[in-house]
Amino acid sequence: MAVVYLNGRYVQAERAKVSAFDRGFSYGDGLFETIRAYAGWVFGLERHLARLKKGADQIGIPFEGDVGKWRQVMGELLRRNRLHGADASLRLTVTRGPDVLGSLLPPDAPPSPTLLLVARPLDAGIAERQQVGVGAVTVHWGSPFNPLQIKSLDYLYNMLAMTHAKREGAQEALFVGADGCVIEGTTSNLFLISQEILTTPHEGSGLLPGITREVVIELAKREGLIVREAPVPLDEALSADEAFLTGSLKEITPLISVDGGRIGTGSLGPVTRRLQKCYRAAVEEERARGIRGKS
Ligand SMILES: Cc1ncc(COP(=O)(O)O)c(C=O)c1O
Repeated sequence: MAVVYLNGRYVQAERAKVSAFDRGFSYGDGLFETIRAYAGWVFGLERHLARLKKGADQIGIPFEGDVGKWRQVMGELLRRNRLHGADASLRLTVTRGPDVLGSLLPPDAPPSPTLLLVARPLDAGIAERQQVGVGAVTVHWGSPFNPLQIKSLDYLYNMLAMTHAKREGAQEALFVGADGCVIEGTTSNLFLISQEILTTPHEGSGLLPGITREVVIELAKREGLIVREAPVPLDEALSADEAFLTGSLKEITPLISVDGGRIGTGSLGPVTRRLQKCYRAAVEEERARGIRGKS
């Protein structure tokens, strides 16, 4: 039976209760992070907590992003769910907490945020998709989609677009802005490779600044690749040599078609493969450093 961590306590998922007046439920008034654990090691935790803390500060939700505390809590939750030896996903949700019914504004009283951490086994299809690649469809629903660039609970359009993609037989939907440029996927950022130059939509386009995107940019530069953060017109994406999507769970997953049009050879390309290896090496490096430093 699944155990979750809710407001400081480990409880059976069926017994976990959140107020009917929680503003996360009523208004999407909250934030979340999805993080991958590799056999118990939570990768990029510092960066995820920093993003969450930044978003929480922006919208005025108190959140304590203590890395040591959260590493301990996450390790314990993985253990309680027997996931400490496996690849797993962790989702940390923070809402503003309950308010008085009928009040549209946040309560005047000091907020009592709701904190929920859930651990799940990793989707077994991810590893295969990292080898064979995925297709995407485009959606043209206005821009920018994330003006505050925070990972808020407002994922309605992302989930609708994802459902649309699945219905079309694709794995991801790419949001295209009014200017015809690709912004990001519903749960991923986009990278193109042409002549060993990496291009990814710039932060100003209204995307969610992904942790994996940040790590990949650092790794690519370290590998001597040129990285451009610039507007990406849709036709540029279609004519790229290679393309890939990034996200904490999917890491680096080749994007092999958009709206049925093939990208490059329509398979995992050499630069994407090289970056996938670098990414895994970075996970191992961080784990070794963390274990040595007990951070
Ligand atoms: C809209 C959106 N963009 C990008 C990403 C990738 O972010 P990260 O690499 O931090 O997982 C996500 C992750 O869920 C997302 O929801």
